[in-house]
Amino acid sequence: MINHLHTTKTLTEFIIEKQADFRYSKGELTRLLSDISIAAKIVHREVNKAGLVDILGDVGEENVQGEVVQKLDVYANNQFIAALKAGGEVCAIASEENEEIIHISSREDDDGKYVVCMDPLDGSSNIDSNVSTGTIFAIYRRTSLSGKGNIDDFLQPGTELVAGGYIIYGSSSMLVYTTGNGVNGFTLDPSIGEFCLSHPNVKIPANGRIYSINQGYFEHFPEGIKKYLRYCQEDDEKTNRPYSLRYIGSMVADFHRNMIKGGIFLYPTTISAPKGKLRLLYECNPLAFIAEQAGGKATYGSNRILEVVPTGIHDRVPIIIGSSEMVEKAEDFLQQYSTVAVS
Ligand code: AHG
Ligand code: MN
Ligand code: MN
Repeated sequence: MINHLHTTKTLTEFIIEKQADFRYSKGELTRLLSDISIAAKIVHREVNKAGLVDILGDVGEENVQGEVVQKLDVYANNQFIAALKAGGEVCAIASEENEEIIHISSREDDDGKYVVCMDPLDGSSNIDSNVSTGTIFAIYRRTSLSGKGNIDDFLQPGTELVAGGYIIYGSSSMLVYTTGNGVNGFTLDPSIGEFCLSHPNVKIPANGRIYSINQGYFEHFPEGIKKYLRYCQEDDEKTNRPYSLRYIGSMVADFHRNMIKGGIFLYPTTISAPKGKLRLLYECNPLAFIAEQAGGKATYGSNRILEVVPTGIHDRVPIIIGSSEMVEKAEDFLQQYSTVAVS
């Protein structure tokens, strides 16, 4: 058994220690991150027994305890909402799973200072096959002065983010986050039920040899992306090409691997998804914030993802994210061969 005494810092210890880094109401953001980590542990537990669904009951059926078994994305959504409601630091939530924003209370004097955007379960199509999934979250300060919060609180560009992070439910579960002072990663030690600092001050290598994209859509990509993909496949000893293609289909997992090893993730526009597939608020912004804080880049082709001003909470945006030199290269191809715009 690993001896944690004096050797490992827990997430709770770490965020308290870092309180001084926050520009605003320090205690509240600390509590908010801690609420998120509690929900993450509950979802981790549930994801880990997903394979037992045949024993415990199918989705929609009652399980042995007489509870109705929920789909994991619904379950995760409910857990994060419940944790944020209990905490009281947030006035409203925007979730990929809900059409409208969720108000924490109907009180006109709701004094929660933050709003949270989240993708409660990213990569949900991977659950049935025991492949990594994740949760992505983004925290903003509300722009409205008081009350239950409104949509404008969410329509802020990523440059206004107070914190961004993700949890990956994988061979180990990890929580990775930034508040704008670098990126830190914590691995869940199930024996003590704590996220422990395992990846301090994460930096994305400036270059790598992994590219991640759903290459099945090749014919549907813009010309610049097609040309870049050909470039990835060419032989060139000096730049370590051909690169390896790795695509899990859970953005969190693909991004996390690329951040550790060096690599690039692309989800461009396609013929059937002319604005891209991934969501600006729930997926792209928080990961872009982490990428930049780790020394990497995130762009929609000609500019930073973080500078895109959202027009609706479910906006989609094309994304190229990861190792800085790789992202720049892909951007060069896109600019040379395609027209890049977000609207
Ligand atoms: P979600 O499960 O939250 O809907 O997100 C899935 C996303 C993302 O995680 C992944 O990179 C992408 O969709 C995969 O899409 P394709 O199947 O089109 O490649
Ligand atoms: Mn997702
Ligand atoms: Mn999702």
